[in-house]
Amino acid sequence: MFLRYISSPICGIKVSIISLGTWYLPRSSEKDEYGIYRIDVEETKRVFKYAYDSGINFIDTANRYHGAVSPVPLTHVGYAERVIGKIILELGLERESLVISTKVAGEMANWPNASGLSRKHIMWQIRESLKRLQMNYIDVYYAHRFDPETPKRETISTFNDLVRLGYIRYIGVSNIPASDLVEYQAIADKYGYEPISFLQYKYNWLERDIERDVIPIAKKFGVFLTVYSPLAQGLLTGKYIDIEKKQWIVPPMSRGEISEGPRRMFIEENLRRLLLFIEFAKSKDISPTQLAISWILHRSLQLGVSIIPIVSISNVKQLEEIVSSLDVKLSSDDMKYLDEIAK
Ligand SMILES: NC(=O)c1ccc[n+]([C@@H]2O[C@H](COP(=O)([O-])OP(=O)(O)OC[C@H]3O[C@@H](n4cnc5c(N)ncnc54)[C@H](OP(=O)(O)O)[C@@H]3O)[C@@H](O)[C@H]2O)c1
Repeated sequence: MFLRYISSPICGIKVSIISLGTWYLPRSSEKDEYGIYRIDVEETKRVFKYAYDSGINFIDTANRYHGAVSPVPLTHVGYAERVIGKIILELGLERESLVISTKVAGEMANWPNASGLSRKHIMWQIRESLKRLQMNYIDVYYAHRFDPETPKRETISTFNDLVRLGYIRYIGVSNIPASDLVEYQAIADKYGYEPISFLQYKYNWLERDIERDVIPIAKKFGVFLTVYSPLAQGLLTGKYIDIEKKQWIVPPMSRGEISEGPRRMFIEENLRRLLLFIEFAKSKDISPTQLAISWILHRSLQLGVSIIPIVSISNVKQLEEIVSSLDVKLSSDDMKYLDEIAK
């Protein structure tokens, strides 16, 4: 296994080329009083330990995440941050050896100012995230989504203040339209605020919209680009397809059973593309999961942008398979073929 750490042209911090996400965590088979699956904290602990021992130093969460449901009802927001804080302490992991990212903007209560990117909301949620995580600071703090009702300067100057106050180390944005992203960065430049250093967008072999605008911007700004759903919520593992019958299936206990996310992608065009993808993985003697992760890492090199896939994990075995993707080598002909069959 070959785990590397990368930095970016505008940032000295080094992060592992894979990040451990927490939108979904290992689930237990029991449900709580709201009918939502409980988190299997012991398996989550094993996943964190395996990740840490493998050299993964980069952990991604958000103030809203629960770990077994999406969208998260207000009764369950903040749970993932609490679990992370508890596990890191129980495993005795050295805080300074970790790079922790979390996010702000989503709804956290049902009163005005309980969501968005206003100074009031951000200053509230940074303190709450630190409490839930049981930490003194956050390494990367993302604006989770665009808030058209808050002036951009208010948001970016608040993030700048958080760096100055020692609450956060680096500023990130996620899911924000490319033109707004450019405006945020221009405001930071104009007023001498800390720059945006991390981006977070959806990217995988099947869903490549950001190649049009966000990736060129990431390259120009020299920022880290962390990417979510690198396995297309599990589709790229091949488990949602019955190969013999060439049809979609939903395996028991998979995310597709509890969320519409994977099922929304059950369209004819994706079935055709995935069958070719799975066949190609087989021809290389690797799993579709390994091919999907390796494709992103090779794409990062091809494009000259520091792209870091963030993975959610249901058990240690899944993470072992993902970590083993780091040994996979794809040639430029392989990458060309994968582009062709993605069309
Ligand atoms: N900024 C944002 O708005 C945003 C949005 C979404 C996610 N994120 C971040 O990105 C992370 C990853 O996103 P994602 O969960 O959509 O990622 P993903 O890697 O595309 O999907 C992960 C899911 O695939 C399944 N899986 C993983 N490894 C597998 C393996 N080896 N074999 C079979 N199945 C496997 C697991 O689901 P099952 O076992 O349950 O089937 C797992 O939960 C999140 O945890 C979160 O931190 C950010």
